[in-house]
Amino acid sequence: MPGVGSCRIGRVTTILAVANQKGGVAKTTTVASVGAALAELDQKVLLVDLDPQACLTFSLGIDPEDLELSVHHVLTKGVSTAEVVIATDDGVDLLPATIELARAEADLLTRTGREHVLKMALEDLPDDAYDWVLLDCPPSLGVLTVAALTAADGVLIPLQCETLSHRGVGQLLDTVHDVRRFTNRRLEVWGVLPTLYDGRTNHARTVLETISETYDLDVVEPPIPKSIRFAEAPAAGRSILATTRNHKGAAAYRDVAAHLLKRGR
Ligand SMILES: Nc1ncnc2c1ncn2[C@@H]1O[C@H](COP(=O)(O)OP(=O)(O)OP(=O)(O)O)[C@@H](O)[C@H]1O
Ligand SMILES: [Mg+2]
Repeated sequence: MPGVGSCRIGRVTTILAVANQKGGVAKTTTVASVGAALAELDQKVLLVDLDPQACLTFSLGIDPEDLELSVHHVLTKGVSTAEVVIATDDGVDLLPATIELARAEADLLTRTGREHVLKMALEDLPDDAYDWVLLDCPPSLGVLTVAALTAADGVLIPLQCETLSHRGVGQLLDTVHDVRRFTNRRLEVWGVLPTLYDGRTNHARTVLETISETYDLDVVEPPIPKSIRFAEAPAAGRSILATTRNHKGAAAYRDVAAHLLKRGR
């Protein structure tokens, strides 16, 4: 059935990868904000930081330097996922990253079955643990992104609508195609999410229309407006939903979460 996640007894877990190899398109902001919004909707949510820069971990108020265990222990050292997951003030759980994940990426390169390490790590969680698992991918199409796509039911592509932002979308879709062929037949593209969106310009809308037509992609609405408030939230260690409750950016992410919830069901 389209969009329905891995079936588990009593609860269905939907695993969504947030990916775009272009840097700075709001992947991490989207994972943190959609995660917090889903938690507000009484969903049990796990966020997974798959970027050695550990920006998601930082933005949730956790200093990677203070962590003894992180996602790289799960992916390469056989530590159980549940042992590493931590609760955050945003009402979501986090599988945190540290810079050691960069080494894990190198280690995985020579391992058989590397595409499946994350999938297996998530299967290791208790059956009814989460409704949603959101995967924050690094800005590359390397081992970690492929492992995320292999574990996922769907992929959401944040996209900043400016000239040349389409460059790389084709390459990402080629990777999705390969993953579907070789490691994960159920992977679906849930669409592009316009981020850092300046609705005052016709330009942003034209770029978005061109991309969605060229690649035949759904657009997940509403677009996330560009706002300085997004830059302030991570410093507070909370998502924008907690720092500025009635902000239009927070409202947009709440609407996106409601949209995803409908699709997930
Ligand atoms: N809607 C927005 N308006 C203004 N700034 C934003 C918005 N969304 C995100 N930002 C800011 O843009 C920068 C990049 O965002 P973010 O780290 O989420 O992108 P990313 O795609 O995860 O980057 P990377 O590819 O490096 O992982 C951050 O400083 C963030 O605070
Ligand atoms: Mg990021």
